[in-house]
Amino acid sequence: MKSSVYKVILRCSALLVSFYYSGTAVAENFVLETENMSMAFSSEKDALNLRYFGAKVADSEDLFAGGSSVPEFYSYWDTTLGRNGNEFGYSIVQADGTISSKLVFIRGEKQKLNEDQVQLSFHYKDPAYDLTLTRHYLASYESDIIETWSELIYSGEGAVRVERLSSFVLNTSAQQPYLTGFNGTWARESLMNESPLMEGTSELSGTTGARVAQTANPSFILSLDGPAREDTGRVVMGSLAWSGNFAFRFRRSYDNKIRASLGYHPMHSAYQLAKGETLVTPRLILTYSGQGKGAATRAFHRWARQYGIRGGNTPRMILLNSWEGAYFKFNQNKIYGMMERASSMGVELFVLDDGWFGEGKFARNSDKAGLGDWQVNREKLPDGIDGLIRKAEEFGIQFGIWVEPEMVNPKSQLYTDHPEWTLQLPNREERMSRNQLVLDLCNPAVQDYIFTMMDQLLSSHPDICYIKWDCNSHVINPGSTWLPDDKQSHLWIDYVKGYYSVLDRLIKEHPKVVFQACSSGGGRVDYGAMQRHHEFWTSDNTDALDRIYMQWSIGHFYPAIAMASHVTATPNHQTGRSTPLKFRFDVAMAGRLGFELDPKNLNPKEVEFCKDQLAVYKEIRPVVQLGDLYRLRDPDQNADPALMYLLESEGKQTAILFAYLLNRKKSDGHEPVCLKGLKPNARYVITELGSDKRIPYHGKAFSGQYLIRHGIPMNWPRKGRDYLSRVIQIKEMN
Ligand code: DGJ
Repeated sequence: MKSSVYKVILRCSALLVSFYYSGTAVAENFVLETENMSMAFSSEKDALNLRYFGAKVADSEDLFAGGSSVPEFYSYWDTTLGRNGNEFGYSIVQADGTISSKLVFIRGEKQKLNEDQVQLSFHYKDPAYDLTLTRHYLASYESDIIETWSELIYSGEGAVRVERLSSFVLNTSAQQPYLTGFNGTWARESLMNESPLMEGTSELSGTTGARVAQTANPSFILSLDGPAREDTGRVVMGSLAWSGNFAFRFRRSYDNKIRASLGYHPMHSAYQLAKGETLVTPRLILTYSGQGKGAATRAFHRWARQYGIRGGNTPRMILLNSWEGAYFKFNQNKIYGMMERASSMGVELFVLDDGWFGEGKFARNSDKAGLGDWQVNREKLPDGIDGLIRKAEEFGIQFGIWVEPEMVNPKSQLYTDHPEWTLQLPNREERMSRNQLVLDLCNPAVQDYIFTMMDQLLSSHPDICYIKWDCNSHVINPGSTWLPDDKQSHLWIDYVKGYYSVLDRLIKEHPKVVFQACSSGGGRVDYGAMQRHHEFWTSDNTDALDRIYMQWSIGHFYPAIAMASHVTATPNHQTGRSTPLKFRFDVAMAGRLGFELDPKNLNPKEVEFCKDQLAVYKEIRPVVQLGDLYRLRDPDQNADPALMYLLESEGKQTAILFAYLLNRKKSDGHEPVCLKGLKPNARYVITELGSDKRIPYHGKAFSGQYLIRHGIPMNWPRKGRDYLSRVIQIKEMN
């Protein structure tokens, strides 16, 4: 009797155990949908498989009846696969040294977050170790975006070592795959490079710790049908919301299967988790388009304005930034003069850049001293920040200011007081970049210091409405005096988390202040930073010609409302190129328009021209900043590129077309620019904006169909100089 009771108990518990560890007892299907995409998963015993990711399938039953399946997420040594499975999701060394981990599927749950967003979360567990993993998929229906990320929790004794944890493992196949990365350097950030994805492994990655996007933006385009096209063909576009090291590893196998592990860079980044600790990866923002990269871009932009950047639905102010007009060389009168002239032209915000702080021997009169000493330099600015704000008010404009809180010059009071707060390596010669060192943002004391300094600046000057947050160095000397010896490899992840944590605290305290992410130009253009900023400084290169290419590239992922673009002096300070003022305006007006020059150097005719252009921008601002982008003529393939923004409001469309003539010798200059996105049967009035009206269609009305098929002739003059431009409004009639 006794023994049979035991047998029953044992059998029951064995059943329970096998139920628990073998995942869901019954196979379950999960579907995630957006307006134009479907993603489907099904559980099979203890595995969760990805069944489908692509264009929307009307009846999701079809996804489970047919098709193939691949594991949703798997490890380097997954005993289910019995091999090291291609590109993989995670690699973990258990507390006992075992290099195998096997996370079996337990259950999935679906949660409706709001009218637009649904989140699927899949829970996994290792049957032999105290590890649980949750994989999240958050779909935004209207914008066609899925955000996906991983969350690993350890609850055992000792500590596990996470050697890699991806945000997503992409599985697809293609006969003719092409991969685009966004690479560059200072003053030529994020230029697109497309090449065939060859058999074997290809990697897009950035490893500079901070300022990563300067050399490699964490974004990719995978085209499945040859080189990516604007309006046809299948593309997957992804971007990692992370301001640190990243790696996208794409592996194409002999049978044209493509697997990619996408996430933070695992190099020197082993992360220990002790009991109760969690590692959450950055989010990978993902979209799929069956109609080329144009639609995928618009998906990214719609999502960004709604969820991805701060204040994405509020048009931005036109600003004048002091940097190229004053650099470090200014006094109060010069700044007041700049403010007055800016306001009289129609500028709405004045931003005082570098050079306003540090005193005495640490005065910030060059990049050699003062960084870290955030007290106003009374020699330069006797009335202090209060005086600047009062003056701005007098001129009817707002005031903003530059900071670079993550860095320090050794020639500063801060460094004198806290040399232990910089990143540093024992037994190695200290290296510097721009005469500065990086503060150790892993250290909570450093985070507190930065938060308190910024909080005081903003609390004691509540009228500061804009912060330009700069970061002018990679992570150099990568060692932390705060992290223990066996956790030095946490630095690459903890630095970014420290930076985010400071900003999150600041935003909570000062929710109305607008933040710009700057990092020697476009070094922090990523959706991790953008969650905490309203916009980014696209590049220190303000040459309008170079900007056409950069804005074209970066605009594949990031919307115009976030893309700061300034009219600067000619010849351009970075390239020496001279371009007409109209051309400089018409390039900057395709993004978030600003100025970066001393208006004192403009002649009266130019001042009048600027006033007119600012009035034009104010009129077109909602369309540019809130509208959908259509790329019409690629500057890499045309000497007369063009793009347009389209906004529908109260049932009527307005489009703004930007067209440029870059090189007369390479363009026949007579091919009309065909529009996109218009309603074929509606009629539109064409207006060339600005004082110069040169196109023959100015003032006339055409059907949408005509403008799509036959386009608008630009009427570029046959002779004369390059760098011409047109801004044209196309307005649906009542
Ligand atoms: C780098 C930025 O990109 C510039 O716009 C300017 O703010 C300088 N730093 C100031 O040091």
